[in-house]
Parts: sequence; C-alpha cells; structure tokens
Amino acid sequence: MGKKLILLLTVGVLASYYVYTPLPDNIEEPWKLTWMVTVSKTVTYLNRFSEFLGTNRFVNIAALFLKVQEVPPTSDENVTVTDTTFNNIPVRVYVPKRRSGALKRGLFFIHGGGWFSGSVAMSSHDFLSRETAERLDAVVVSTSYRKAPKHHFPIQFEDVYNSLKWFLRQDILENYGVDPERIGVSGSSSGGNLAAAVTQQLSEDPSVKIKLKTQALIYPALQPLDMDLPSYRENAHFPTLHKSDVVKSWSNYFTTDKSLEKAMLLGQHVPAESSHLFKFVNWSSLLPEKFKKGHIYNRPIHGSSDLAKKYPGLLDVRAAPLLADDTQLRGLPRTYVVTCQYDILRDDGIMYVTRLQNAGVQVTHNHVDDGFHGAFLLLDFKISYRIINHYIDWLRENL
Ligand SMILES: *[C@@H]1O[C@H](CO)[C@@H](O)[C@H](O)[C@H]1NC(C)=O
Ligand SMILES: *[C@@H]1O[C@H](CO)[C@@H](O)[C@H](O)[C@H]1NC(C)=O
Repeated sequence: MGKKLILLLTVGVLASYYVYTPLPDNIEEPWKLTWMVTVSKTVTYLNRFSEFLGTNRFVNIAALFLKVQEVPPTSDENVTVTDTTFNNIPVRVYVPKRRSGALKRGLFFIHGGGWFSGSVAMSSHDFLSRETAERLDAVVVSTSYRKAPKHHFPIQFEDVYNSLKWFLRQDILENYGVDPERIGVSGSSSGGNLAAAVTQQLSEDPSVKIKLKTQALIYPALQPLDMDLPSYRENAHFPTLHKSDVVKSWSNYFTTDKSLEKAMLLGQHVPAESSHLFKFVNWSSLLPEKFKKGHIYNRPIHGSSDLAKKYPGLLDVRAAPLLADDTQLRGLPRTYVVTCQYDILRDDGIMYVTRLQNAGVQVTHNHVDDGFHGAFLLLDFKISYRIINHYIDWLRENL
C-alpha cells in the first residue's frame, strides 16, 4: 500500500512539474496557455525521440502535427477560395463574392513559421485570410515560399517578392477587380520580416509601377545583429518562443552550418568591419524609456569576418530590414506594427517604429501589454480576436 502511494505521489509531482509553466500575472486565460504549451512541449519531445530513433523509420511528428492543422481551399457563401500559382509560387486567393461594382482592396499576406515551417493551408492562416477578405471586401492573396533547411536566404525573400510582383501586374489586378491604389502587404513573425523586406525592395524598384498603400507587421523579426536586447533578456524563456528557437531560426535562414548558430548565441557573429551597422539597431537610442527599464547597454562584441563572408545574408538589408538607412525608410508606405510585451522580438518591432517615425513615415503602433509571441493567431484565445479586430479596423481605415 505504502509503495503504491509513494509511486502515485511521485508520478503526480513529476506530472505537475512537467505541466507547470510560470506565466506573468496579467496573462489572460493562463490555464489555456499552459495546456497549449504542454501539448507543444510534448510534440517537441516526441519529435526529438523519433529523430533519435532515426527519422527514416518514423514520420516527422512535428511536421505531422502541422499537417493535421491544414485545410483544403474551401469556398463559402461569402468568399471564393482557390489555390493557384503566381510566378510559379503557390498561393491561396480569397475573393469576396459581394458585388459592389467598385474595385476592391488588395491584401498580400505572408505567413510566419521561422522561415522553415507553416503554410497557407494552416487553418489559422486560412481563417485570417477569409475573415480579412470578407470583412474588408478585399481580395486576399496568401503566399507560400520555399523553406529552410532545404532552402536558405535569399530564396524565401525572392519567392515572396516574385509572387508579389506577379500580383501587382496590371492585368492580374484587373482580372481580380483590385484597385491598384489600395494594395497592402501584411505578415506575422518571420512573415513580418519578409513583409518589411519586400516593402522596402518594392519602394525602390523602378520596374514595378504599382506601389503599396500600407504595410502591416505583426511581431516581426527585423534583425539578427543584436540578440541581447532588453526583450531578449526578459523573454528568453517565455514558453511560446525561446531565445534558442529564435537563434536557430535565424541561423537556419542562412545556413545549416552549426558554427553560425554557436557564434550567434555568443553574440560573436558580426565582424569588426561591420560595426557601423550597430547604429541601426542601437536599442539604447531607439527604445523608449519604458522598455529600457533597468537594462544596461553593452558595447557589441565582434567576431571574425569568416562567417559574415561565408553567409553575407546575415548583414543584408533584405534579411534585416532594420539595416536600411533613413533615405530608404523615407519612401515607405503607411505602417502598422503590433508588438507584444512578452515576446523576444518585441524590441525589433519597437525600434522599427522609432526609425520609421524619425524618417517621417506615418506609423500606428499597437503594443499589447498582455501579449506574447503567437497570440495573433491562437484562435481559441480571446487575445487573438482582440489583436485581429484591431488590425482589421486599422486596415479598414487606412487601406
Ligand atoms: C456570410 O456573411 C453573412 C453576412 O455578413 C454572415 O451572416 C455569414 O455568417 C457569413 N457566412 C460565413 C460562412 O461566414
Ligand atoms: C548607442 O547609443 C548610445 C546613446 O544612447 C551611444 O552612447 C552609443 O555609442 C551607441 N552605440 C552604437 C554602437 O551605436
């Protein structure tokens, strides 16, 4: 009897330790978040275990977990949904059925997933695009792009840019009944990175005559140079996005060579001859006091120039939109930025807000005090609808 009780107690303690997730006091629906984090932790462990046993004999569990969240293109009474290709890039297009006679808004959406995962078919992305199309009477193009680790920068960027340029062709816009004066780009997380990058590229591309009216960046990743920002220090272990995942995603965007990831973790990936670039990501001058709090700005350390020579994408403005100079920023369209308090990427977004404002760009900044990375598209959570509604309201007024 005694032994059984001890066993039961031990299992109980281990289970609660496994499930226990420390969360800040102002997080809404904490139990739901704890449950979600426990499920994703379990998927990660199962995945590591199956990799340990040999991936050939087992299906990739993480990929399967994402696959079951995918939905086929399904039209409903309000929106026609079709899978097609733009410039050979797969896209899913949402066309509202409402007949107003007038030309419609156009919205080009880029999903996130660390440049290695996610898809337009995921039910959360599908829901958002459908909802945006219906509520704004907008034609929404949700674009795919090739992923790491098979493909590295600049492939992801180029796929998105080629797909966007196809959408912006006069004949394509006419075909979909889109007003060329009312087109916006949006993206979340690594999709926000790609959105910011293609928006910059487009503003300087003389071969494309049609320009964007808006860009909307939802907790975007905007630079891999300084990974010691206050938001990195405060949220390195926040359960929905860890520092180790962010560093791995950035590193895998450029290469599968592990030495880059190691150098990034030590902050030794930027060579001395590129130290002038740190002024573009200097949180000491670019963050409002509220976000600097008690943090001390450390002078950046420098690594050898080998890695940056081997992987020049690391310091390329198409991967790190914060590296654009003020002249480049001045030409950008009206901008919407969402940042979340409990997000390692928070300060990337806030620094971009400051830099755009300094360059005279009109910016709306929605900082979510109880937000965390991923909150935009967790459709079981109240916070998700709060952020989505604010975003759609902004588009309604500005696009
Ligand atoms: C279609 O639009 C109507 C009116 O806005 C709404 O009541 C209905 O729920 C929508 N249908 C779907 C499938 O979303
Ligand atoms: C960052 O900004 C601070 C002033 O806020 C300045 O003292 C420091 O030299 C700057 N560092 C770099 C690398 O630009």
